Amino acid sequence: MTRRPFICGNWKMFKTSAEAAALARELRAQVGGVAAQVAIAPPFTALPAAHNALVGSSVELFAQNCHWEASGAYTGEVSAPMLRELGCAGVILGHSERRQLFGETDATVQKKLKAALGAGLTAIVCVGETLAEREAQRETAVVSTQVRGALAGGLTSADTARIAFAYEPVWAIGTGKVATPAQAQAMHATIRGLLRERVGGAADGIRILYGGSVKPDNAATLLSQPDIDGALVGGASLQAADFSRIVAAARERV
Ligand code: 13P
Repeated sequence: MTRRPFICGNWKMFKTSAEAAALARELRAQVGGVAAQVAIAPPFTALPAAHNALVGSSVELFAQNCHWEASGAYTGEVSAPMLRELGCAGVILGHSERRQLFGETDATVQKKLKAALGAGLTAIVCVGETLAEREAQRETAVVSTQVRGALAGGLTSADTARIAFAYEPVWAIGTGKVATPAQAQAMHATIRGLLRERVGGAADGIRILYGGSVKPDNAATLLSQPDIDGALVGGASLQAADFSRIVAAARERV
């Protein structure tokens, strides 16, 4: 089954609204009309400005997190329907920074995934092991637990069109230490095997992105692996030229 490559830029806590609008305008000029699915995930506050800058473009707007309830007494939180209202097509869930710094767990990721899909959003569920876990050869166990945990609430075959996974080894995020294509491919194949246990053949249609120090000069090699269907890009998504070159690498895979 061919899977449409998917490149998403995770801007983390970078870019004011004015800066986000400027970068989104640059990106729409540089990556429009490509066969790959392309998305950017600015901070919450910059979503309206980025949305305005992207109107009429194929570049999609994603958020970086959401709450699991639609509304309620949850000070400081933002819900999935609120993101839909702002024009978001999707949301990143369970990023390792949220797991490590903000108490995100497999259980909260599972609830958020249900909320996101229920609100009509696409979800990118992030999984990945720490350096200590890899050194203890526990990476497969850790990532398997995270994938199973996220899907514990069940997944219908209709949901599979709106879910993607991102394998982001924590030791490769922001460090310049990229996983080798073989290391990444091995984990992506493991994840696809777990998805097959859940949804059978529909697993072959689910995109699994790689994240962790993806740059213009390593993107093509990573994307040439059979189970690497795209990239979740941090630092290199903050410069239009770098992000466009990564998108171009995905286009060559189509
Ligand atoms: P870097 O590309 O900066 O390593 O970040 C990866 C990441 O965390 C994307 O979600």
